[in-house]
Amino acid sequence: MSSRSSTEVRRLGVALLGSTGSIGRQTVEVLEAHPDRFRVRAVATGRNASELEAQARRLRPAVVALAVEGAALDVPAGVERWHGEDALERMAVRDDVDIVVIATGGVVSLRPVLAALRAGKVVATANKETLVAGGHLVMAEARARADERAAVDARDPLATTLAWLRPIDSEHSAIWQCLVGEPRSGIARLILTASGGPFRDASAEEIAAATPEQALRHPNWSMGAKITIDSATLANKGLEVIEARWLYDVGYDAIDVVVHPQSIVHSAVLFIDGSLKAQLGTPDMRLPIQYALTHPERLPSPTTPPDLVAAARLDFRAPDETRFPALRIAREAGRLGSRASAALIAADEVAVARFLDRTLDFNGIPRLLEAAVRRFGEGGDQTPDVAALVALDREVRAAYATGPVTG
Ligand SMILES: NC(=O)c1ccc[n+]([C@@H]2O[C@H](COP(=O)([O-])OP(=O)(O)OC[C@H]3O[C@@H](n4cnc5c(N)ncnc54)[C@H](OP(=O)(O)O)[C@@H]3O)[C@@H](O)[C@H]2O)c1
Repeated sequence: MSSRSSTEVRRLGVALLGSTGSIGRQTVEVLEAHPDRFRVRAVATGRNASELEAQARRLRPAVVALAVEGAALDVPAGVERWHGEDALERMAVRDDVDIVVIATGGVVSLRPVLAALRAGKVVATANKETLVAGGHLVMAEARARADERAAVDARDPLATTLAWLRPIDSEHSAIWQCLVGEPRSGIARLILTASGGPFRDASAEEIAAATPEQALRHPNWSMGAKITIDSATLANKGLEVIEARWLYDVGYDAIDVVVHPQSIVHSAVLFIDGSLKAQLGTPDMRLPIQYALTHPERLPSPTTPPDLVAAARLDFRAPDETRFPALRIAREAGRLGSRASAALIAADEVAVARFLDRTLDFNGIPRLLEAAVRRFGEGGDQTPDVAALVALDREVRAAYATGPVTG
């Protein structure tokens, strides 16, 4: 991280990419709750100009950026306006930025994440697509930063990969919190919990007839549309398995998924001595967002703590990969390598968009995923560079944008 004058030293400069979405808005809440800790320097979003303008008035960043070109932006005097493809990357490496929060969907943040890590910035990411498609690139950068610090002092808090690349996804935050103070050699298995989504108890026939309205009704979490549909198909859990494989350097055979309808246990780690550690909390993303920003410190938060007596019981069961094949397909893509999981990500964006605009049925989503992984994911270079990943993303989207999808 860049050095600062003594008066600024406790206030970390933050760049927030994807500020108007579900994670972005909650990140703004967390940052505003701790004005003595954070100073927002750069804020970027896709097309929501009015919310970006409101955020610029509240946060007074040095710069804002909108992805859509040409939109007029009414921001306070002194706030710079950036446009263009490289705006996110330029924000991520600013001298006045210490932490970059990634709250965009898709792979649009892959280049900014790599640039930020290379420039010695901490990256806190909710975005899973970046790791699923580019885990081999991103983790190499995070490891390099940690190794540099460890070469000077192995006890330096930044001498671990997770100090540089911090997960916000609640399951991965839970695992991270379970692993604090634990050597990697002690890990036996990672256990990711899944709510099971709105069709957890639905029959195969009901799932086949599922509408966007039904799929958007998540039982426990309030999230963006894409991830809510991914939760209904369990594709989200599949992406999280791949994300966990990269973040924690654990093989696919040692990552389990368990359906836990109450969403109180956010995930767990089994250690080699048979001890199982879990992190519990109410479903509120502000907690993992804040933890990623303040790690290793904990600060008060508005999150309601879990009440075990009120919860009374916690249920767990194995996932059903017959009704929810997307989980199996994602695991298979992960095992094939980064080309296959990048194809999966692109296919999933297309499939979810098509389901939402009713040109694909619910079961068409896993059908499209499987077809895309077979056609684009198998063989080839399974450690693609950024340019190859971007080209693959375009190719897969173009292939499935319209028309029927056969299995
Ligand atoms: N929501 C959750 O609770 C949750 C939990 C765990 C993980 N995640 C992950 O976090 C990520 C974000 O999820 P979300 O639910 O917050 O999504 P979302 O509500 O759809 O928000 C996405 C944000 O990214 C912005 N964006 C899109 N294209 C952009 C571009 N080219 N440049 C800059 N910003 C761009 C959008 O801007 P506009 O709206 O202005 O177009 C919006 O602010 C996803 O990877 C998701 O899987 C989310």
